[in-house]
Amino acid sequence: MLLLTTIAEARSACDRIRAQGKTLGLVPTMGALHQGHLSLVRAAQASCDAVAVSIFVNPTQFGPKEDFAGYPRNLEQDCQTLEAAGVDLVFAPSAEEMYPAGASTFVEVTGLSARLDGASRPSHFRGVATVVTKLLHIFAPDRAFFGQKDAAQVAILRKMVRDLLFPVQLDVCPTVREPDGLALSSRNTYLTPEQRRQALVLSRALLAVERKARAGELDSGKLLAVALRILEGEPGVVVDYCRIVNPDTLEDLPEVGHGGLVAVAARVGSTRLIDNLLL
Ligand code: PAF
Repeated sequence: MLLLTTIAEARSACDRIRAQGKTLGLVPTMGALHQGHLSLVRAAQASCDAVAVSIFVNPTQFGPKEDFAGYPRNLEQDCQTLEAAGVDLVFAPSAEEMYPAGASTFVEVTGLSARLDGASRPSHFRGVATVVTKLLHIFAPDRAFFGQKDAAQVAILRKMVRDLLFPVQLDVCPTVREPDGLALSSRNTYLTPEQRRQALVLSRALLAVERKARAGELDSGKLLAVALRILEGEPGVVVDYCRIVNPDTLEDLPEVGHGGLVAVAARVGSTRLIDNLLL
């Protein structure tokens, strides 16, 4: 497995892969890898000849009071995991490499970027769209792989790829959960055992909505009332949003039809967690 840190090295490695007539899959990550990331790697390996994983804790997607400094970083362990998984190359650039001095160009998917997490994290999706644009330029992959857990990110990147005419297929892989329902997240490492137990309320609330929708309740207001009752029953969990939206536009849906997305974000202690289910 190649470990590359410069854009020039990454471009040459991708050129070599393409010169052999191979297809390339890209799995963008911020490291602190878990089974969710590895499910993206496996999906990439199943459909592409070569797989690249980027590991970059992207400063522009963190707000000034967020956890950029404390975000878990363990490049050595991540590389061992990826090597064992059979990944072809890892790209782990510095912030200076990705954002040359004076860089002031950003990509913003207007409208969508202000919905769901974008409402409480105002520059978050601008940072995500900008760094993913840079990665797509560097790698020019045939396919890029993202997790359904970041449903708003998925909607924004799909729109960005369409609007900016990127010749790439986005693949979205299902959320990977612990046996007790907790969605895997690099931020789960911040949780104390008691907070981890409290965090289970997110998936419990989503499942209750799914059950009620399956039983025939279509009214989003009534479905969300079920979720909020469960969420508010867990002291220590502060809800940021709980909404039922169109998964492409992220706009509220008054009624769930086929394909509505129920999404929740909440703080457990100082850790902000997100989760969602497609109804
Ligand atoms: O989902 C993530 O880990 C990040 O938002 C991404 C897509 C790697 C961009 O930094």
